[in-house]
Amino acid sequence: MSDRRAPDRWWEGAVIYQIYPRSYADANGDGIGDLRGILERLDHLRGTNASLGVDAIWLSPMYPSPLADFGYDVSDYLDVAPEYGTLADFDALVEASHARGLRFLLDLVPCHTSIEHPWFVESRSSRSSPKRDWYIWADALPAGGPPSNWEATFGGSSWEWDAATGQYYLHTFYPEQPDLNWRNPAVADAMAEVMRFWFRRGVDGFRVDAIFAAIKDDLLRDNPPDRRPAAIPGMGRESGQDPLWSMRRPEVHDVVRHLRRVAAEFPGRVLVGEAYVPVEELAGYLGHGADDEFHLAFNFELLRSPWEHRHLTLAIERSEALHPPGTLPTYAISNHDQARHTTRWGLDRARAAAFLLLTLRGVAVLYAGEEIGMVDADPAILPDPPFDRAGRDGCRTPMQWDGSPSGGFSTGSPWLPLVDPARRNVADQSADAGSLLSLYRRLIAVRAGSPALGRGAHRSIFGVAPGVLAWLREAHDERIIVLLNVGDAESACDLRRITAENGEVLVATSDRSGHLGLRGLTLAPLEGIAVRLATLTP
Ligand code: GLC
Repeated sequence: MSDRRAPDRWWEGAVIYQIYPRSYADANGDGIGDLRGILERLDHLRGTNASLGVDAIWLSPMYPSPLADFGYDVSDYLDVAPEYGTLADFDALVEASHARGLRFLLDLVPCHTSIEHPWFVESRSSRSSPKRDWYIWADALPAGGPPSNWEATFGGSSWEWDAATGQYYLHTFYPEQPDLNWRNPAVADAMAEVMRFWFRRGVDGFRVDAIFAAIKDDLLRDNPPDRRPAAIPGMGRESGQDPLWSMRRPEVHDVVRHLRRVAAEFPGRVLVGEAYVPVEELAGYLGHGADDEFHLAFNFELLRSPWEHRHLTLAIERSEALHPPGTLPTYAISNHDQARHTTRWGLDRARAAAFLLLTLRGVAVLYAGEEIGMVDADPAILPDPPFDRAGRDGCRTPMQWDGSPSGGFSTGSPWLPLVDPARRNVADQSADAGSLLSLYRRLIAVRAGSPALGRGAHRSIFGVAPGVLAWLREAHDERIIVLLNVGDAESACDLRRITAENGEVLVATSDRSGHLGLRGLTLAPLEGIAVRLATLTP
């Protein structure tokens, strides 16, 4: 069946692949991944029969950076860090990606710069600097001490004292990441120029970093104590306070609308917001119309869910119920900030997890390495002290391309140790039809070829069997029933309300294929199957 996506809304139902540039592929042997390395590995992603078949790359920051937060502290928005290559390498990578029909998204980090960014250097040079108001500066309280009780995501006060000018500056994350002042129109203009620079170079969109923290209370009111679960699980310590006045302010939506207006100058471009907020609040970031706020926004409900039937059900139902009409959930189950799902949920659930992610309605974002079941490094094998002070290095180890000690990642000494390339790597799994990698390929191929799975409607079916998640995906004349046993026991399905006698197995975590009678169907533990129904009477 043909893909009926309108070309200018190419992201609907897309599969996006996140690359952490430092850890993907190292072409020059310095132990650090680079852009040429990615280019040499594009076959893995799209364009050959053995490719994953993803629709787009999202590249985590590759800008010059002193690496206090591994690139999320940008010191020049308009260049490539020398360890990753040059602007010419970047252009070559975008061109080669486009040549295979692969879109290319960059990471936009609009809320803070590096302490070494020339804007901040100028801003802190004196109280009368023309860029003073590009950042958030405030006096000490009359009795001394920081202007408010706000706590930084990675611990400690959000305020850093600048002895030279006798004021504090604000940082939501590390002290090396001073927050830009988004109430200043000059900042909004400067960031618009950054976006245009990359759009003109051909990028297809941005993942927009940490947007929920873009605007703070202008009166700097103290945050109340926290009585709710942490907004950003797994990132830094629990802060002990509710970031009522320092994050998630209503004015943040003016910032998002501004970004959207800039993106709208370039047809076919997409903005994917990162806001670690509950799905109720996420709806607001998806705007109130077809051209308002983000096109997509990460939905962390699944990522935050334990692997338990009732929790997964709730995550799916909340997502389905709370996304505004005309918008799609954007799911990821792993990323560079959290323990990998193979580590959180367990490796034995990797096939079922892939099946879940890729058969739900919406956009699926894969984190490089999940397609071969990479797991987090045991902290004991990580260098001491860790590169990332917030302790997220475990999920950032290099990609395992083959079974050699450096996993085919580098001919030099990898910046972080590899976990287990001999046990899990692309080369071995490519050749094995029963591997996790082969399952990812099948899932993505089936999804791309099926209007119902790609972009169709979702309708949950409850009470099919203990431990079994079930839903229908429907588009035009295609109807697919998706069944996934998330439990550890066999489960006999009761599909009497769905009166199809049989259907065609499109994809399964097991080796089921061909025609399948749905009556009396029993699913093995962690088995998932997607069946195209011959007939259906709801
Ligand atoms: C985002 C990034 C994370 C970074 C933080 C500050 O949440 O994903 O890696 O530390 O923003 O930029």
